[in-house]
Amino acid sequence: MEQFNADTVRRSAHTRLLGHTVHYWTEVDSTNAVLARLRKEGASEGTVVIADAQTAGRGRLGKPWFSPPGVNLHLSVLLTPPIQLSQARLLTLIGSLAIADAIESTGVKAQVKWPNDVLVADKKVAGVLAEVQAQNGQVAEIILGLGVNVNIDRPTIDRLFGDVASGATSLREALGHEVDRAAFAARVLEALEHRYFAFLAAGSQPLLTEWRRRSFLGRRVRVQEEDMTVEGIALDLDEEGCLVVILDDGSSVRVREGEVVPLSS
Ligand code: BTN
Repeated sequence: MEQFNADTVRRSAHTRLLGHTVHYWTEVDSTNAVLARLRKEGASEGTVVIADAQTAGRGRLGKPWFSPPGVNLHLSVLLTPPIQLSQARLLTLIGSLAIADAIESTGVKAQVKWPNDVLVADKKVAGVLAEVQAQNGQVAEIILGLGVNVNIDRPTIDRLFGDVASGATSLREALGHEVDRAAFAARVLEALEHRYFAFLAAGSQPLLTEWRRRSFLGRRVRVQEEDMTVEGIALDLDEEGCLVVILDDGSSVRVREGEVVPLSS
């Protein structure tokens, strides 16, 4: 029987900063929202909130994040990197690469899709939501929320996820067996700490190089940003983690916040 709680995660995670304090609840509105409240009460960098279920899980672009109770990972971590607000997007890339690392430690190949998705076999297995507070152009804090489909099974995905079910998967589906969530959460925290410290020490270049290697750059994509929809080739990431897309007329656009759909040709 899986033991999933603050103690099992903390004991399994070999980290120096992330997870020094782990809060676990069976049900919260959103782990990001809980961590924002804890921050106001004095929580420090590295504090982690995990919940077995969320009643109001938040996704990117104001969308809800659906995930049934008892099977998946909902984890938020507080970071206070000394960086400019313009670099904050890079933490989303770090979060998705860390999840990809933890997935690959189970023997499954994982890719990243700009800006915040983790894919297995071309289907979404996880997403990252970074909520940023800034002061005078500097990041004051980032609440990095990680949602991973760990043990949800195919019938439940088909029943609950509606028209996005065919584009979603779980670690259980990829491996053919269930995964211990405490051990998996610990691998995520270790990978996140490793990548976070490397970024603070060496800057964005190694991070961007690694992200390019694990991503779908070079593919044709459709980009929807606010009321604009364009198609082109996803060429590169810039210094701030924006996606550079070359359109058919040779011009380029820099995508900051949109939705990117890889196309087959
Ligand atoms: C996305 O792909 O749209 C991002 C999803 C992020 C979901 C996680 S689950 C833990 C944390 N708490 C939330 O309310 N959202 C994030």
